[in-house]
Amino acid sequence: MTTSETSLSPPLRLGVNIDHVATLRNARGGALPDPVRAALVAQGAGADGITAHLREDRRHIVDEDIARLMAAISVPLNFEMAATAEMQAIALRHRPHAVCLVPERREERTTEGGLDVAADANRLRGFCAPLVDAGCRVSLFIGHDARQIDAALRVGAPVVEFHVGRYCDLVAEGEGDAAAEELAALSSAIRDAHSAGIEVHCGHGISYDTVAPFAAMAEVRELNIGHFLIGEAVFRGLGPAIAEMRRLMDDARG
Ligand code: PXP
Repeated sequence: MTTSETSLSPPLRLGVNIDHVATLRNARGGALPDPVRAALVAQGAGADGITAHLREDRRHIVDEDIARLMAAISVPLNFEMAATAEMQAIALRHRPHAVCLVPERREERTTEGGLDVAADANRLRGFCAPLVDAGCRVSLFIGHDARQIDAALRVGAPVVEFHVGRYCDLVAEGEGDAAAEELAALSSAIRDAHSAGIEVHCGHGISYDTVAPFAAMAEVRELNIGHFLIGEAVFRGLGPAIAEMRRLMDDARG
């Protein structure tokens, strides 16, 4: 029997990414809407954690938001960042519960792929060590390539987050066959990482239509979801949008 087939799956956490509340705030340059208020609503609606990505260009969350978030919320903060000296210093100053390392390109609209851990394993091992020593749970955002899982093991990361954006895009485009292929590759990588002793998270592009297969996999312990929820909040409110995602996750988890 595989872990997926056991009747009792371990709990699945929902991390709500509030970056795009800050995107909206920054569009006008004022203080509203406040991403900290969104984080508190998310917490009240069933989020197990809050995720925020401080980008080099500060296009959504800005430096002051990190301290404000950490002071306000009672669930863990998952701090997404590029593996740069500037971001490492910020993370070491705040010591969030978790640090998720993501690739970053200034010209991209959003995080387009996973980290190339295989090409950068030595540097990343040294980069992660002080974060781990500071008590941060470090995760690496990767694609479903086996080389990246091996490299994550070499780096000593306790967690990987799989980039599921391509699968979500293919579903949205009605490309059923290609989506099924992508999901099969992701599922296999998720099982491999879990068997190797790494905690598995998934994120990027997840919507009500694409959450079920990841929520159903017992090997997956956390989903990080942002853009879809903030968009859906325009129509039904943030709390109800998150509560519905939580319901779909719990239904799929069985
Ligand atoms: N996980 C990681 C590592 C990310 O970089 C992002 C996007 O910032 C997300 C999850 C959330 O993606 P989305 O906003 O598309 O739900």
